[in-house]
Amino acid sequence: MTHRKTKDDLLRLFDKNVHMLIRAEDPLNAEPPPDALRSSFITPVEDFFTRNHAPVPHVDPALYRLRVDGLVRQPLQLSLDDLRRRFPSRSVVATLQCAGNRRHELMAIKRIDGEVPWQTCAVGTAEWRGVALCDLLAAAGVSSDARHVAFLGLDTVRKGEREFGFGGSVPLEKAMSPEVLLAFEMNGAPLRPIHGFPLRVVVPGYIGARSVKWLAQITVQTEPSDNYFQARAYKLFSPGVTADTADWTQGLMLGELSVNAVICAPREAESVPAGTVLLTGYALTGGGRTIERVEISLDGGDSWTVADLSAEGNRWTWRFWQVSLHLPPGAYCACVRAWESAANTQPEKTKHVWNFKGYMNNAWHRVRFNVIG
Ligand code: MTE
Repeated sequence: MTHRKTKDDLLRLFDKNVHMLIRAEDPLNAEPPPDALRSSFITPVEDFFTRNHAPVPHVDPALYRLRVDGLVRQPLQLSLDDLRRRFPSRSVVATLQCAGNRRHELMAIKRIDGEVPWQTCAVGTAEWRGVALCDLLAAAGVSSDARHVAFLGLDTVRKGEREFGFGGSVPLEKAMSPEVLLAFEMNGAPLRPIHGFPLRVVVPGYIGARSVKWLAQITVQTEPSDNYFQARAYKLFSPGVTADTADWTQGLMLGELSVNAVICAPREAESVPAGTVLLTGYALTGGGRTIERVEISLDGGDSWTVADLSAEGNRWTWRFWQVSLHLPPGAYCACVRAWESAANTQPEKTKHVWNFKGYMNNAWHRVRFNVIG
């Protein structure tokens, strides 16, 4: 008799807590429950969401080489030892969020096919350690006509008959910013296989897709990457566009994250005792902008209560928020919105941000709960 892998086996295989919520099994896509996510500012690796488009590749660290090519004066080929010896090691505490976080709410408005139904926890914060991409690019010598830096991973994605690697790019200006790392450690330990061992890109303030795992190649070029995950996926289209009508040369190529906020507690449909009710959650934004205020409304946005922001964080991380409200018994719907340093805030209605790929849902997050006497 063959042993059937249970969900717990699968999660354990990838060093994940068994309370993780599996959104797709093969390859594994999973997010933590909201209370676990909100319980620690730095997300333990065991609770860190994981987003994979292909099976996790097995990489022998001794044979591993990183290639740097394209518009550089000196192409490089580096072992892990070379990387550690030649470049100073740096660390950054940064939040990673998938562009598909909160897609589930978009799916409730109108059908979205073939995408992972993420709820609110395809996001996590870690301390990443590695070498700065700008140090590597300085050693390679970037040509004056370079505008973008493309990354390619070692995993093999299959779409119908076609097979290709996972890739993407960032503008040169972002690639030269010191917070962009080629990380070999996550929370003080070597990267786990599912998070990109032995080396991954970490692009703070950008959608998670640009933080390419199992990094094989860095190419300096004049145009953005023509990889499927830059040229087709991770593009934002107008609500009227569908998979059949999309002109793939159009659409907004996603880069910086937008401002977002989520209620982690109470949970949808939860019953809590009357008296002081604690609402908690997270808020984040992109591009190095900062969360300045988080507000909660219990009357659909007619009035707002300002939440307390935790002191922890930097311009590349989320902020945790909480607010205590004195509530008599009844049925409630709480909504949350954040304001960031460029005075951007979030759209009210989910239906107004619907798009056929289900990206970047940052409409007010709502939770219905009951207070019982
Ligand atoms: N890199 C490779 N090589 N393959 C992938 O499938 N997924 C991307 C990105 N890097 C991906 C990748 C996406 S969409 C996200 S959100 C993050 O990795 C998720 O990183 P994590 O699994 O470490 O949380």
